[in-house]
Amino acid sequence: MNKPLASSFEQIVNSRRAVRKYEQDTPFDHEAVRKAIELATLAPNSSNMQLWEFHRVISSEAREQVARCCMGQSAARMARELVVIVVRPDKWKKHAHINAGKIREAYKDQNDAKARRAHGYYEKLIPMLYNNDRFGVRGAVRKLLTFLRGLSRPTVREVSRSDVRVSIHKSAGLAAMTFMYAMKSRGYDTCPLEGFDSRRVKTCLGLPGGSEITMIIGCGKGTSDGVYSERFRVPLDEVMFEH
Ligand SMILES: Cc1cc2nc3c(=O)[nH]c(=O)nc-3n(C[C@H](O)[C@H](O)[C@H](O)COP(=O)(O)O)c2cc1C
Repeated sequence: MNKPLASSFEQIVNSRRAVRKYEQDTPFDHEAVRKAIELATLAPNSSNMQLWEFHRVISSEAREQVARCCMGQSAARMARELVVIVVRPDKWKKHAHINAGKIREAYKDQNDAKARRAHGYYEKLIPMLYNNDRFGVRGAVRKLLTFLRGLSRPTVREVSRSDVRVSIHKSAGLAAMTFMYAMKSRGYDTCPLEGFDSRRVKTCLGLPGGSEITMIIGCGKGTSDGVYSERFRVPLDEVMFEH
């Protein structure tokens, strides 16, 4: 697994595998994880709301606890660091406010329709979409209004509370992928995991009730037996369509 650093994007994509066993006795550069997270935050994300968090599980005690919550999977047990990708729908107000501030600054000398539209995006549209109650009643009303609007013109229909949830996890998934490629570009292997007890992991990390875990990523330098099988994908014509 100790290959030279991949130098091109294609090499990185081709060589990244889900690696389930990591070297235990070689040094691990935790700084590489910090840098990869920094790059991951540059991933595209819905409305630039950045409702993600990257929880680094570094100490051996914390890693052991989290690995137990991952059903003891070797990719978690042997990881030299675990990164828990968390989404925080509950932080929407704060992040909308930060975005609105940036927009206000960018358009400070303008008061035309474009500037008003930009202001309205984070001050009106985003609150309309992200302001959700526990039972999803607001979202259901939005869904109904959207349906009616959609009868006469093209309309974004994914406006319910669960649609917003999906959207936030989509963005977090892109950040997770960016993180894994960034790690590979620094010579490290990763394994994304969704086989874990989310409630227990949240307790281990002291995460608030409104948060959700997108995935956990094991990191390390893979051992020669760390990849379990040949890579396999369904034929391209099963998944690629031209219109
Ligand atoms: C969201 C997600 C969840 C995954 N969960 C697990 C997991 O819990 N345990 C595991 O061993 N692999 C897990 N994997 C790894 C996949 O099994 C692996 O990516 C897939 O078999 C393709 O292999 P490759 O990544 O080496 O190309 C997960 C991958 C993704 C994207």
